[in-house]
Amino acid sequence: MNCFPENFLWGVACASYQCEGAWDEDGKGRSIWDDFCHDPYAEHIRNGDTGDIACDCYHRFRDDVALMKTLGLKAYRFSVSWPRIIPDGDGAVNEAGLHYYDELVDELLANDIEPLMTLYHWDLPSALQDKGGWLNREIIPAFGRYAEILAEHFKGRVKYFMTINEPQCVTVLGYGIGIHAPGLKLSDEKLAQIYHIFALSHSEAQRRIKAVAGADVQVGIVPCGRLCYPSMNTPENKEAAYRASFNLAKDRWGFTFNIILDSLIFRRYDDSAPDAVRRFAATIPPSEWEQMETPDFIGVNVYSGDEVDCKGDFVRRPAGFPLTANKWFVTPEVMHYGPLNLYRRYGLPLFITENGQSCNDRIFLDGKVHDPERIDFLHRYLRELHKATEDGTPILGYMQWSFLDNFEWSEGYNERFGIVYVDYSTLQRIPKDSAFFYRNIIASNGAVLFE
Ligand code: NOJ
Repeated sequence: MNCFPENFLWGVACASYQCEGAWDEDGKGRSIWDDFCHDPYAEHIRNGDTGDIACDCYHRFRDDVALMKTLGLKAYRFSVSWPRIIPDGDGAVNEAGLHYYDELVDELLANDIEPLMTLYHWDLPSALQDKGGWLNREIIPAFGRYAEILAEHFKGRVKYFMTINEPQCVTVLGYGIGIHAPGLKLSDEKLAQIYHIFALSHSEAQRRIKAVAGADVQVGIVPCGRLCYPSMNTPENKEAAYRASFNLAKDRWGFTFNIILDSLIFRRYDDSAPDAVRRFAATIPPSEWEQMETPDFIGVNVYSGDEVDCKGDFVRRPAGFPLTANKWFVTPEVMHYGPLNLYRRYGLPLFITENGQSCNDRIFLDGKVHDPERIDFLHRYLRELHKATEDGTPILGYMQWSFLDNFEWSEGYNERFGIVYVDYSTLQRIPKDSAFFYRNIIASNGAVLFE
């Protein structure tokens, strides 16, 4: 039987701002996403949507966890809203905020669902943005303190901490082209500084989590970026795909895994770094490189990959190539070669922390939500992930993105990524066909993928 490793953690993922709602309840401070969505001078979000209510998980988490249990889920990756815990980012702790996550974590544990806690999934306290956000080095100790507070509070209950989700998207989309909060358009030099501050912040958080929770916890980071797969299964082509994945001189350097992971793990940028990165790197004192902490594992968000030929060039997609509802290419092979190449470069265990697709889901006449595209997507991607495990890549678990349809950042509620449909007018949840397909995958530890 074709199965995944024993104790493989099959789960789902979501993030605080995308699903919680309760944006101004129980002492929560404002975040940059509250500000971005409520900007009186510009409409940044499709349809003027906000995360004010989102899926209302803040009030409905018990029912949601019960539904997770019926689907047989073994893990839930969620994020903590920093301004719920420390409303101004660096001052007094809001006990009501901690209480919400206490209840969520306890509910998960009572249902045998492993909580995977992400500390930063983009909802920065506005008070910290007022001081420069991720461009001001004062954020390093502030983030470290926040991480320590959570580690102290949840030690013994949470084993897996993930410090920062997709710093590449924050940097490129939020500080580079301004389509995400905080909506800035800064130079490449400034973006290089932000990556370095992210790396130092991760390291500070990891040190402080380990200091209070010790060997009981595993600390990871969740970067994203370009992942390539070869056109042909030849050694030459596979090598070209590996090199293209991590070549900073090719395409967009800011959207690469190595722009952050090389700092943490190799304590340097490699020779392909562009001028802006080199100029900034020349100002980094050796003592700062020494502060970098290698994570215990890497979380990888896998969506769409780039096909590379044996010369190392990107392959143009033919007309009619398969697309998701939000027009991302469907490229299952990236789930084989992406993790494989990350393991080859860094030698660390991996979690697939996100994978899924948006579909134009709707309720059919029979009252159900049929999503054959998502089923086909999961089927194909998971078969490829299995190849990665067979090739010896240590994969600890797979988190489908997402459990519920939710707030897709600048696209608002236009994109539906859930395996559970949300009727936003009533907040009713309806498991889609893919939820039951996923339940069978989990129950058979992947064997049904090969029937
Ligand atoms: C990655 C992000 O972490 C998540 O917040 C987002 O919703 C998904 N990708 C889908 O775009």
